[in-house]
Amino acid sequence: MTKTEELLKRLQRAQAGGGTEKAKAQKEKGKLLARERLDLLLDEGSFRELDALVETKGREFGLEGKGVPGDGVVTGTGTIHGRTVCVFSQDFTVMGGSLGLAHAEKICKVLDLAVRIRAPMIGLCDSGGARIQEGVESLGGYAEIFYRNVQASGFIPQISAILGPCAGGAVYSPAITDFVFMVENTSFMFITGPEVIKAATGEQTDFESLGGAHVHATKSGVAHFTAGSEQDCFRQIQELLGYLPQNGEEKPLRIASSDNPSRTSPELEKICEMDSKKPYRVHDVIWEIADAHQFLEVHKGFAENIVVGFIRLNGESVGVVANNPKHLSGALDISASEKAARFVRFCDAFNIPLLTLVDVPGYWPGVTQEHGGIIRHGAKLLYAYSQATVPKVTVILRKAYGGAYDVMSSKHIRGDFNFAWPGAEIAVMGPQGAVEILYSKEIKTSKDPEKFKQDKVQEYTRKFANPYYAAQRGFLDEVIGAAQTRPRLIQAFECLRTKRVEPLKKRHGNIPL
Ligand code: HXC
Repeated sequence: MTKTEELLKRLQRAQAGGGTEKAKAQKEKGKLLARERLDLLLDEGSFRELDALVETKGREFGLEGKGVPGDGVVTGTGTIHGRTVCVFSQDFTVMGGSLGLAHAEKICKVLDLAVRIRAPMIGLCDSGGARIQEGVESLGGYAEIFYRNVQASGFIPQISAILGPCAGGAVYSPAITDFVFMVENTSFMFITGPEVIKAATGEQTDFESLGGAHVHATKSGVAHFTAGSEQDCFRQIQELLGYLPQNGEEKPLRIASSDNPSRTSPELEKICEMDSKKPYRVHDVIWEIADAHQFLEVHKGFAENIVVGFIRLNGESVGVVANNPKHLSGALDISASEKAARFVRFCDAFNIPLLTLVDVPGYWPGVTQEHGGIIRHGAKLLYAYSQATVPKVTVILRKAYGGAYDVMSSKHIRGDFNFAWPGAEIAVMGPQGAVEILYSKEIKTSKDPEKFKQDKVQEYTRKFANPYYAAQRGFLDEVIGAAQTRPRLIQAFECLRTKRVEPLKKRHGNIPL
């Protein structure tokens, strides 16, 4: 055998992973193989593998003499739309993709590389968790990954795709990363599985209803995106990356837009003129404003009372946060506050300007919310907006009541440009509630309480339920016609391209976690 032949033989052995039988079993579960996944995710022919010949280090419990080249994870670099990314893809055919020491070291090595070259890191997860035979070494391996995820956080974008099991502490690496994708029916995430839960609490559940894609995308908020297939998942990751910079020191790419920056939107006037109690989907506003009407929604099924995601305005990537009157009247609650706060912090870390569309009647009332800590969780959004130094432009579409007015990127917490549509209502509370509190005694003693109330509601509406009281005080920079929203926003963000704010020098703030 020549030296070259020997190399090829070794590489072939590494590429075989757990062998044909295991590969067949993987396919029967409706899952792709680790290398097939990378081929679909990355630009054709761009993958360069690293550490293919690294072998399993464990020697106990049947692992002696079983050194598997690659140790159940494929790592390397590649490109997506021509831009470099670092990747790992766990190979379930090798000991269930379980994480042993060598496996962990490979992930750490490629993550260190991603930080050095300032490129996004994408992890494709399909693993039975800590490799039982390697004991504390695999636990330590996980912790080394977690530590690196944290150091890289805000420095390079980190994305996790869950394409199979992800159990125990293994879920914490994806949880620290910026975006978690899950594939319906084949992926699941949980700390303790159905069996342990049954033994500990007596609750009956199964993998899917405990930690499947749907549950995490709608109830827990762990998953930001779900996909119907692995192919769909990779397509979505590619789309997401298009809105992001390579790292926190760069700005996202500007993509030439064929959509006219001066395009006006007469349709938005209908929403502006609508009865203020009537619900509408804020998506209609976002689509109308965005280049080519395209909006990549993040966390679509979770806390639907607030909508977050990415659009382009005249080719520039912009993060959108918008109250959605279609759900809970657009009020802020615990989940909405957390969802939006995390998104704001992501955009701020990666130089993505923020557009806030406000239509909020206040915080969602209730004992569950109060006891669940809405004070603490609601403060996260306030903190995130106040801390964000990227360009911030706010448009009050309709209601901006109470503390929620302050929180939603108001002038007072350093919105750069704050606009309102002419139908905006900005006050401590709605006219009805305000009159009932201010005139409770008078209403009781009045000869015609209904008429008294109506007169006072009208007076309050005239004075406060409009944008002009705030505009007169400079709390709004401009009241704009709804149809002019897109061109005005494009001008505003263009003007803010050179914005620079130096934060106070300190170790770090203390966000109310
Ligand atoms: C070693 C493992 C393994 C593990 C699976 N395998 N998980 N080997 N360590 N953690 C092996 C199996 O023995 C089997 O080997 C092969 O992978 C495929 O597993 P199957 O069970 O046949 O596959 P499937 O039916 O699809 O079930 C997948 C599974 C199940 C749901 C993941 O294997 C499972 O429950 N595994 C244990 C999960 C777990 O409890 N992990 C530890 C979590 S604690 P053969 O040779 O038969 O093919 C943890 C701590 C992290 O991760 C701490 C960080 C702080």
